Amino acid sequence: MIHEVFSTLTARSGADHNLPKVITIVGGNGRMGKFFNNQLTAAGHRVNIVGSNWQGADSLLPQADLVLISVPIESTCEIIERTAQYLTPHTALADITSIKIEPVRAMLEHHSGAVMGLHPMFGPSVESFAQQKVVVCSGRNDAAFDWLLNLMRNQQAELIFSTPEEHDQMMVMIQATRHFCRLTQAVYLAQEKIDIDKSLSMSSPVYRQEIDILKRLLNQNPQLCIDIMLATEERCQAIKSLADTYNRLARLIEKKDREELIKEIESTQNFFSKQ
Ligand SMILES: NC(=O)c1ccc[n+]([C@@H]2O[C@H](COP(=O)([O-])OP(=O)(O)OC[C@H]3O[C@@H](n4cnc5c(N)ncnc54)[C@H](OP(=O)(O)O)[C@@H]3O)[C@@H](O)[C@H]2O)c1
Repeated sequence: MIHEVFSTLTARSGADHNLPKVITIVGGNGRMGKFFNNQLTAAGHRVNIVGSNWQGADSLLPQADLVLISVPIESTCEIIERTAQYLTPHTALADITSIKIEPVRAMLEHHSGAVMGLHPMFGPSVESFAQQKVVVCSGRNDAAFDWLLNLMRNQQAELIFSTPEEHDQMMVMIQATRHFCRLTQAVYLAQEKIDIDKSLSMSSPVYRQEIDILKRLLNQNPQLCIDIMLATEERCQAIKSLADTYNRLARLIEKKDREELIKEIESTQNFFSKQ
């Protein structure tokens, strides 16, 4: 009750930016959840966790100043809807899902308080927000998140403000098709039983970097890679179109068609030179 009155007053005055916040992370035992827990706790805030058994949800969700959703992409919207049932308008609700249109829409639909979509453009192995990019999508009442954005800024994070639509469109290329290329390359190396250590012993630095990236991808939970590729129909179509491009070029290679291959390179050079 006291907390509620205090939250209402401070939310109205907007004057509590420096006070420790009470935060509940839904999915806080997961990899990104742990990262946010560490950062928020180190900054002096009090962090509670709701896991997949939802133990403590009735008390930990309604009392929070901020609820942060950090759960698998596929179940995010359903979990947002479930979470919102526990919240009053005084709680700010944010998510860190790698897609933004559907989660932001779900938060706005099911929660009447402050809403913001975030996408950290890094994995859980980093030590802080320093030099990392975070995409920020406004939902409602951005001011309620000033303290959180300032925490990231103070650690030298770069915040990129975008709409959910622009974010998702960019991530088709930045994440979905890239994951497919890397996965294909990794599957191919395994299928061909390549001696990776031997190949590294005579490789260029770029090849070594590529292998490191493939290893990082393979060390992640496979679910995340798959969710990133399958998250939207647009992503599935883009991956299909990329595979068609592979096939078109592979046919030119098969036919040893130098002329057409050079034309492909020249038209692509032309495109890149205009960027
Ligand atoms: N990993 C990355 O590199 C990365 C980068 C940027 C953004 N993201 C985004 O961050 C989010 C989390 O990714 P992650 O890699 O941290 O995943 P993760 O390690 O699999 O963690 C997900 C957490 O969600 C919890 N969870 C699953 N179902 C739940 C439910 N029904 N109710 C409540 N909690 C539930 C799990 O709880 P239990 O532990 O109790 O099972 C788990 O701890 C995703 O949306 C992803 O797109 C990830």
